[in-house]
Amino acid sequence: MDGRASEVVGQGEPTMSLLELQYWPAEVLRIVASPVTEFDAALQTTLEDMAETMYVERGIGLAAPQVGISKRMIVIDTPIADEESSQLEALINPEIIESSGELIWEEGCLSFPGLTVDITRKETIRVRFQDHKGAWHEMDAAGLKAVCIQHELDHLNGINFIDHVSPLKRKLLLRELKKNLTELGVET
Ligand code: NI
Repeated sequence: MDGRASEVVGQGEPTMSLLELQYWPAEVLRIVASPVTEFDAALQTTLEDMAETMYVERGIGLAAPQVGISKRMIVIDTPIADEESSQLEALINPEIIESSGELIWEEGCLSFPGLTVDITRKETIRVRFQDHKGAWHEMDAAGLKAVCIQHELDHLNGINFIDHVSPLKRKLLLRELKKNLTELGVET
């Protein structure tokens, strides 16, 4: 639950730290995360480790609680067309200040291996956030990127994608999850 880092040393590569992914029903996934207040070198390192963990897990977004850190920060990299358009972004203390439209997207979540859920989200959003140095920015996002930010921001509020479906559907999904986690050798 504490995001214990495990060292992965490549062949002559610089050492990188992968963070331990938290699976449902880890408590850290169900609580509201605290604002980030220290914009120091340690924060930068944590963001880099979150990004490495996201890429290794083949995610397009990762929220700090998913690696056991109950802080309001996320990393995203949502390819627009292909691998070339890949762009890593870190959003600290993000909040959605405007939104419009709706769309339904089939979402997955690294904390719920193998599950996909159709969820209605806002189609376009404007998000306000801080960068790793603490400077405030505003950004517009649409489509997949907007969906991804809304999904990750939910994690910061202890909300998971299964919270958007009916109790019955949720029960069926959690049964499926238990099976998937057992197959992966994760203790639940
Ligand atoms: Ni997720």
